[in-house]
Amino acid sequence: MELTLKSARRSVDEIPAPLVVLGVWGGELSEEGQKLDGKYRKALTRFIQELHFKGDFGETLLVPLASRREEAGPGFALLFGLGKKRGASLETVRKAGAKLVQEISRLGFKEAVAETFLADKFGKKEASYALAEGALLGGYEWNKYKTSNSGSRRGEKLRLWLARSSGPAVDRAEVVAEAVNYARDLVNEPPNVLTPVELARRAGEMAQELGLGVEIWDEDQIQKAGMGAFYGVARGSANPPRFIQLTYKPQNPAERVIAMVGKGLTFDTGGYSLKPSEGQITMKCDMAGAAAVLGAMRAIARLKPPVEVRAYVAAAENMISGAAYRVSDVLTSLSGKTIEVLNTDAEGRLTLIDAITHADRQGADAIVELSTLTGACVVALGEKIAGLFANDSRWARQVQEAAERAGEKVWPLPMEEEYLESLKSSTADLKNTHGRSRYAGAITAALFLGEFTDKPLVHLDIAGPAYTEKSHALGPVGGTGFGVRTLIELVEK
Ligand code: BES
Ligand code: ZN
Ligand code: ZN
Repeated sequence: MELTLKSARRSVDEIPAPLVVLGVWGGELSEEGQKLDGKYRKALTRFIQELHFKGDFGETLLVPLASRREEAGPGFALLFGLGKKRGASLETVRKAGAKLVQEISRLGFKEAVAETFLADKFGKKEASYALAEGALLGGYEWNKYKTSNSGSRRGEKLRLWLARSSGPAVDRAEVVAEAVNYARDLVNEPPNVLTPVELARRAGEMAQELGLGVEIWDEDQIQKAGMGAFYGVARGSANPPRFIQLTYKPQNPAERVIAMVGKGLTFDTGGYSLKPSEGQITMKCDMAGAAAVLGAMRAIARLKPPVEVRAYVAAAENMISGAAYRVSDVLTSLSGKTIEVLNTDAEGRLTLIDAITHADRQGADAIVELSTLTGACVVALGEKIAGLFANDSRWARQVQEAAERAGEKVWPLPMEEEYLESLKSSTADLKNTHGRSRYAGAITAALFLGEFTDKPLVHLDIAGPAYTEKSHALGPVGGTGFGVRTLIELVEK
């Protein structure tokens, strides 16, 4: 839907709209709600009691309001269940924002006003931010390839007023949510459309629009630069690779340079270590790390934090052909280290190490890297939580705290040095997987990356949360935009 948020200082009953959304906590109308209810002879309270409306989270009740006032009041109230107030968090507000726009749109309203839930508990700014962000994420739809006769309700407009909200907080939520939804779009694009060349074109277009520095290398430049690991993966595809670099420079020269690296496999078939068909179903999401990094750059260009940020994406497709790399091939990475390929499906790490080496050499003070790297991480932490690996506890803490503030779930896993043994090769310096053992797959992947920089490095394995085959509290099936909010928080603090 096309959602427009309007921040207002006024209270719900001072904003004319056909629908007013009021919170219900533990079966009781919110304070704002009660004030309004007074004007309707407690009609709302009576509905709640007579219908035994408990107001579990997300439960709603639509009540017609016969306006007895002189001026035209709202025709309806939507009572929105928020569960118990005790223990409610900003995440409750964010989820409520998402759910309520979906509900309002389902009911067919084009305009509504909602109260800013929990402003009393968390302050107007935080509560407004969470509600607005939730609404904008929850209003996301992916229907680009649905034709009008497939019955989809596309592009419906909704104007939502947030009563007693903070304007700057709503503005910020708009920038952040737009960046997340941009990343979702990139992930959701089919791989025949979003090739490495197209991903680079979009990054370039965005850089132009937002005044970011941009440099894009084609396959010849990638080869000439010596990115043999990245190129080794890319060469099997008829769609050539691109190396994408974006730079944000603050007005005053920055003390710190943060590098963000995103895995950019626009499709991962597994190569000759071919994935079974079922494993390929979601593999257009294998550029979700790149999408997160590009999405974050979008918001960073607008929010203008005082640090320099550089984004790097090695974009390629992992395919099969006469030119594709094989098991047992030896690749020479940009760092000079040689790698024996034991599994062509462990391609992400090969593309990432060249991007990491390059970021390091270009003067990054700290590197944060996001990738849909291993199925093993999904086995360990499930679909909601990203694995966090770090070679530096301070940098790890900063990323972890940023994720917490952003409302994205990450959990630390160890980079256990003893497991490095399993990546030693008898032929080359390293091999890209253990080969036979499937133990600690997420950890060995992280250790492999860690061999290519001594700078503070955080690796987020987002294979679980990057993509969802079920709709969730903050959005539909498909790319989730996971990581964008964390990266923005990280850079801003
Ligand atoms: N892109 C996949 C990882 C992945 C799996 C992402 C599921 C999202 C959902 C990655 O390139 C891969 O195939 N990894 C292998 C590594 C193995 C060969 C060591 C894996 O996880 O099986
Ligand atoms: Zn793979
Ligand atoms: Zn992959």
